[in-house]
Amino acid sequence: MNSSGSQDLNKIKPFERIFVALDTPDINHALSLAKSLKGLVGGIKLGKEFFTACGPEGAKAISALGLPIFLDLKYHDIPNTVAGAVRSASLLNPFMLNVHASGGRDMMVAAAKAAIDAALENGNKPPLVIGVTVLTSMNRDDLIEVGIDAEPIEQVARLARLAKDSGLDGVVCSAKEVVALRGNIGPDFKLVVPGIRPEWASKDDQKRVVTPSDAIDLGADYLVIGRPITAAENPADAAKRIADELSIKKD
Ligand code: C5P
Repeated sequence: MNSSGSQDLNKIKPFERIFVALDTPDINHALSLAKSLKGLVGGIKLGKEFFTACGPEGAKAISALGLPIFLDLKYHDIPNTVAGAVRSASLLNPFMLNVHASGGRDMMVAAAKAAIDAALENGNKPPLVIGVTVLTSMNRDDLIEVGIDAEPIEQVARLARLAKDSGLDGVVCSAKEVVALRGNIGPDFKLVVPGIRPEWASKDDQKRVVTPSDAIDLGADYLVIGRPITAAENPADAAKRIADELSIKKD
């Protein structure tokens, strides 16, 4: 298992498990948000919207602020191509990156190996390599349309097991899947959970949400939080409020 990039979650503060989704194509907006959130969150998630607009230079500029990066580019291609993408990503020294688990065993094995080899070559700590299972935008009918006759949770569990067997460090999943996965897959496999909403925040387009404290209590390792922080009138205050709520709950 590619565990050398992992951290002991018992040794970090609860708010350091939060990765803020900077879903914006605007580098200046992203930089100003990231600066204001430093010390209040564990890191920054950069996805396709940011990366397509701002590129590796944009990611380097955010990383230069000293915040760990979750590079959420969800690679899905033939093993050789994904391995190459992971090697290129390694130059940005991300804390975490992800691939689609439905790309299959060989693709995930190649990704995990490339992450370790490239990090060694670059003198970096290997990133956590995380699998995307079933997108939470897909329900049973969507799965049937793409030829998968299974409940989403069954398919998530199957792909999580395959991701683990292929050497990945964890998966992205919804909070409602955390307990079942944890029971199946053991304590060390990282569960990264989006769809987080404090009680005081709007749900936006997320349908099934849990609070930050409940997500941690259910067994999530990392929380991905976007708009409750980034769209707040004062993002730093919102992040602080979440950090306070988490520490009250945990201490
Ligand atoms: O603003 P919000 O907190 O809803 O942002 C959640 C982030 O997590 C977004 O970047 C979204 O793309 C991502 N995400 C998600 N649900 C998934 C996988 C990723 O919301 N199943």
